[in-house]
Amino acid sequence: MSEAKRLAAEKAIDYVEDGMIVGVGTGSTVAYFIDALGRIKHRIAGAVSSSEQSTQRLRSHGIEVLDLNATGPLPLYVDGADECDPFKRLIKGGGAALTREKIIAEASGKFVCVIDPAKRVDVLGKFPLPVEVIPMARSLVARAIVAKTGGQPVWRDGVVTDNGNWVLDVHGLAIVDPVGLERELAQIPGVVCVGLFARRPADVVIIGGEPPILL
Ligand code: 5RP
Repeated sequence: MSEAKRLAAEKAIDYVEDGMIVGVGTGSTVAYFIDALGRIKHRIAGAVSSSEQSTQRLRSHGIEVLDLNATGPLPLYVDGADECDPFKRLIKGGGAALTREKIIAEASGKFVCVIDPAKRVDVLGKFPLPVEVIPMARSLVARAIVAKTGGQPVWRDGVVTDNGNWVLDVHGLAIVDPVGLERELAQIPGVVCVGLFARRPADVVIIGGEPPILL
């Protein structure tokens, strides 16, 4: 499976143009992308990172990590996903980096998502939907999610996000209206970010294989 991740991630290098500042996601698939980016680092102007984990890996390759406030809009964002539907709508946040990932996706002209074939689904929701919450609102948000969706939120106990928040993973969903659910859950007070990337889906999905498949 990691071979498929590597093949997808390395194909994403095709989208990197000279002088670009590249938005970089988080996770094991993106780790392959960062390693490939390291091999062409002389061609890029730097990266904006979605997590402390990716920042460390970027810096270990000598790639400069820049502040999104200083760079302005980015031409390209490359990130993985936990699930991807036929409309390139995603569940993300398995690595608890969903908030910064969504910010960079929003700031980017092109979002290239790199996945292995097991991430493809017809309907999102088999993978528990991550929701980042302000710690004091954990139970309030969980009750609201049960009432609104019938899903079962489970606290990812022990995990603190890079923003100092907690994560609820919502089990038992079959998400037929991802845009509507993303909007509805985002309105619950205490929700920082919903791990549905439907309002701003990926622009290109690369599914790792020999050869990689593009959606
Ligand atoms: C991190 C994410 C990752 O992109 C997602 O969890 C996929 O990870 P991996 O590439 O390790 O399978 O959303 O918050």
